Amino acid sequence: MSDTQPNASPTSKPNPAARYLFMLLLGLVIGVIGTVMALRAIEGGKTWQDHYPHATMHLFQAHAAQLGAKVKGNRCGATDSLPHLQALRTLANDLEPAFPGLADDARFADHAAAMRATLDGALANPPLSCEGLGETASKIGETCKACHQDFRT
Ligand code: HEC
Repeated sequence: MSDTQPNASPTSKPNPAARYLFMLLLGLVIGVIGTVMALRAIEGGKTWQDHYPHATMHLFQAHAAQLGAKVKGNRCGATDSLPHLQALRTLANDLEPAFPGLADDARFADHAAAMRATLDGALANPPLSCEGLGETASKIGETCKACHQDFRT
């Protein structure tokens, strides 16, 4: 015969604080999972047209930043800068198709054309010194800024 009672230990008694904490954590976890699922559903419903403008701008940003890094790192030969200038020039053709709602706006078209003209100039006469590349990079940056001032909300 034993006088131990299986349910007598204090830990097995319902502890309201622990239960509250458990429910709170469960609620948080469910909330996080729900948020992640909702965000993924929203992302999954996006088309390439939704991503196109942002993708174009992020690639502009990536190549402009790498050009800046070349100048800072004192690596300003044509092999350092041309790939980025070429990429920017090619991507500049995407401005109108990426922003179909703005493409018919004459000011947008002017800004896009100005960016292409700047890059055409740089490619026709590639800067070979860091001073030259720095100037080119800031001219390109001006074309970004000019359009953003008018159209970036
Ligand atoms: C002809 C117009 C135009 C030119 C030129 C232009 N942009 Fe933009 N950019 C826009 C517009 C419009 C937006 C706002 C897009 C939006 O939020 O829908 C934008 C947004 C951006 C963003 C934010 C993107 C995002 O998804 O949040 C970055 C970064 C950017 N541009 C970088 C650049 C860089 C770098 C250059 C130059 C090398 C450049 N842009 C040239 C029109 C332009």
